[in-house]
Amino acid sequence: MEVALRANRGPVSMRRMPCLSLVTCLWLTIGVIADAAGNSSSNSSSLPSSSRRPSAVTIGSLFTQDSVIGRAAKPAIQAAIDDVNADSSILAGTKLNLLEYDTNCSGFLGTVEALQLMENDVVAAIGPQSSGIAHVISHVVNELHVPLLSFAATDPTLSSLQYPYFIRTTQSDSFQMYAIADLVEYYGWREVVAIFVDDDYGRGGVSVLGDALAKKRAKISYKAAFTPGALGSTIKELLIGVNNLESRIYVVHVNPDSGLKIFSIAKNLGMMVGGYVWIATDWLPSVLDLSDTVDADKMNLLQGVIALRHYTPDTSRKKSFLSRWKSLKFKTTATPNSYALFAYDSVWLAARALDAFLSEGGNISFSNDAKLVGLNRSRLSLSTLRVFDGGTRLLQILLTTNFTGLSGEIQFDPDKDLIHPAMDVLNFGGTGTRRIGYWSNYSGLSVVTPETLYDKPPNRSTSSQNLYGVIWPGEMTSRPRGWVFPNNGKPLQIGVPNRVIFKQFLVKDKDPPGVKGFCIDIFEAALNLLPYPVPHEYILYGDGKHNPDYSSLVYEVAQNNIDAAVGDITIVTNRTKIVDFTQPYMESGLVVVVPVKEQKSSPWAFLKPFTVPMWCVTGAFFLFVGAVVWILEHRLNHEFRGSPRQQLITIFWGEHCEHLGPVGVDHMAVRGTDNQLKLHG
Ligand SMILES: *[C@@H]1O[C@H](CO)[C@@H](O)[C@H](O)[C@H]1NC(C)=O
Ligand SMILES: *[C@@H]1O[C@H](CO)[C@@H](O)[C@H](O)[C@H]1NC(C)=O
Ligand SMILES: *[C@@H]1O[C@H](CO)[C@@H](O)[C@H](O)[C@H]1NC(C)=O
Ligand SMILES: *[C@@H]1O[C@H](CO)[C@@H](O)[C@H](O)[C@H]1NC(C)=O
Ligand SMILES: *[C@@H]1O[C@H](CO)[C@@H](O)[C@H](O)[C@H]1NC(C)=O
Ligand SMILES: *[C@@H]1O[C@H](CO)[C@@H](O)[C@H](O)[C@H]1NC(C)=O
Ligand SMILES: *[C@@H]1O[C@H](CO)[C@@H](O)[C@H](O)[C@H]1NC(C)=O
Ligand SMILES: *[C@@H]1O[C@H](CO)[C@@H](O)[C@H](O)[C@H]1NC(C)=O
Ligand SMILES: *[C@@H]1O[C@H](CO)[C@@H](O)[C@H](O)[C@H]1NC(C)=O
Repeated sequence: MEVALRANRGPVSMRRMPCLSLVTCLWLTIGVIADAAGNSSSNSSSLPSSSRRPSAVTIGSLFTQDSVIGRAAKPAIQAAIDDVNADSSILAGTKLNLLEYDTNCSGFLGTVEALQLMENDVVAAIGPQSSGIAHVISHVVNELHVPLLSFAATDPTLSSLQYPYFIRTTQSDSFQMYAIADLVEYYGWREVVAIFVDDDYGRGGVSVLGDALAKKRAKISYKAAFTPGALGSTIKELLIGVNNLESRIYVVHVNPDSGLKIFSIAKNLGMMVGGYVWIATDWLPSVLDLSDTVDADKMNLLQGVIALRHYTPDTSRKKSFLSRWKSLKFKTTATPNSYALFAYDSVWLAARALDAFLSEGGNISFSNDAKLVGLNRSRLSLSTLRVFDGGTRLLQILLTTNFTGLSGEIQFDPDKDLIHPAMDVLNFGGTGTRRIGYWSNYSGLSVVTPETLYDKPPNRSTSSQNLYGVIWPGEMTSRPRGWVFPNNGKPLQIGVPNRVIFKQFLVKDKDPPGVKGFCIDIFEAALNLLPYPVPHEYILYGDGKHNPDYSSLVYEVAQNNIDAAVGDITIVTNRTKIVDFTQPYMESGLVVVVPVKEQKSSPWAFLKPFTVPMWCVTGAFFLFVGAVVWILEHRLNHEFRGSPRQQLITIFWGEHCEHLGPVGVDHMAVRGTDNQLKLHG
């Protein structure tokens, strides 16, 4: 295709006009077909502008007729056209014509069909159904000023100001994502797994879900995407993957045409049992219908599933339309879903707006687009796409139209969303669905219908959120905890030292769980505080004859041979390097333990501080100093005279004086004076 393009236009011009290159590219392939129709349509130009009211106006419809939504929308749109034409109060004297184009579940064909529809000088289009086609064709209608009234393209990113001519006549997916976030908060869950189809519709919705959960301090723990039209084996692999994750809350946001396949695979994998939570967006109720009974095969797959459905008030108009359904002119086997109601209302919205447009003197006329007329180098007859002159005014009228349709109040807020978005919260169980409450953007979850709330001030306080009881998968009535350990089914292996002393801490027990004691009591109490179950089993470590080596028990944890260890394990530095410890739950204090030695009391204990040689040296110095004093004093001091016995005593006494220090010196000085006196004398 690219080669052909270069041959015709050249790469330079393609680069210069990036916006139109896609359109050109698509057109080229159908160029041969389009050529034939090329100039014949140019005559169907404007209706005679002389008469104020044209005899007919044409709108187009654009959806996949062979799809869950299309099968329900087709008869509804046809019925609406007939009803408008039969109603003399609206578009009196003007016939509303419908041109149907089938997008056939393909982004490429859908875009081509959409261009072909635009070629027919329609004033508005009902559709497209697919968010992907809506993204592409929105650029085209922006240029041609043809409003798109999409009853099924729910991708939240389509709301942006980039697409002024895209009007969503259904609720954006962002509201049901906020509803899911409110459900997740209501049930106290923290993490969900999003299973979605990887196209504009799926990605746009899941991205809003992430934002909505973040506001509730929850998150999407894993995004499991599969391509549109994925094989069963791919989906099976995907589900096996998500089954190994911790979260057990699955939000399924997929296309109605392939969605049920996921539940049948999940059921085969044993994922529709107790402990699992499945939340489906509105695609699931639209596969089924507006009645509350579902055929038994489908019901078997869906036991316990929670789903959201667009809320439409139970008015008498809606009831009479549903009772007409079987007798509609266009025979259908499809059952009506909420998209049928939105499609019906879209036609009425277009008719009312056109009526107002014509009443204020608007002309249905088209003019050539200068940008397209210049593009005559290719064989694509792009200049047959013409601009609706009154498109801007018709768009304004559409956005301010206000009436009550089958699906409730049809009125747009400044963000171009339908006012009062609301959802039914359904629970599948038994042979049908049960409505467990409502969600409204106004007041969150409630068990009373949203209309009754709009008169009161909005109340989103936690205490005012309320739903009826749910029967979860596995016929459980208690709220699933929504969380398991990732190694699916395999309990945690907890190592426990097999103590032989201090059995109060831990001891082998013949009753389950196999061990008992203070440490086990603390551990079990801590597990019970967790908001999710922790399956575990105790592995005794040690031979039961000696206390086991705690360091090697810790080493086993580090080696991943066991998942954790419980016991009176001391936190020491080299153990903290290889494992994580909990906070200590018992304080021992730091103590030093030494062997006890018997001490005999003895009167000689005072000798202990010094060793024997020390005492000898001390004694020897005593005698030495005494001898020195004696030698010095003996010659002069009469006190150092006399019998040897007397002298010996004096030596010891002198020693004593010597030890007195200054007194001794003083004494010596006095004696010196004496000596001097004697010398002088
Ligand atoms: C269509 O084109 C053919 C040749 O290109 C021409 O003969 C014919 O008159 C055209 N018809 C109209 C309605 O313009
Ligand atoms: C174009 O339309 C006019 C009246 O609407 C008709 O008389 C004429 O034959 C048409 N021409 C072609 C080529 O279809
Ligand atoms: C739609 O596409 C399928 C194959 O993708 C084809 O078999 C079928 O004929 C197409 N239907 C229409 C109406 O084009
Ligand atoms: C519609 O056409 C008539 C006659 O051509 C003209 O007088 C009138 O102004 C037009 N109305 C608008 C809204 O353009
Ligand atoms: C193509 O358009 C240019 C002006 O944009 C014009 O001069 C030229 O005649 C056109 N060619 C044909 C074949 O219409
Ligand atoms: C829409 O219609 C209702 C009832 O007819 C009316 O109460 C309301 O004010 C209208 N809203 C606007 C914006 O016109
Ligand atoms: C939904 O609710 C939010 C906040 O409660 C509000 O800002 C927003 O306008 C509402 N949207 C609609 C369409 O009512
Ligand atoms: C919201 O609802 C709760 C429970 O129903 C109630 O206690 C509270 O007063 C309400 N708050 C307001 C502002 O109405
Ligand atoms: C920690 O130190 C003790 C004693 O030094 C030693 O027996 C043990 O193997 C060490 N453990 C680790 C994990 O290094």
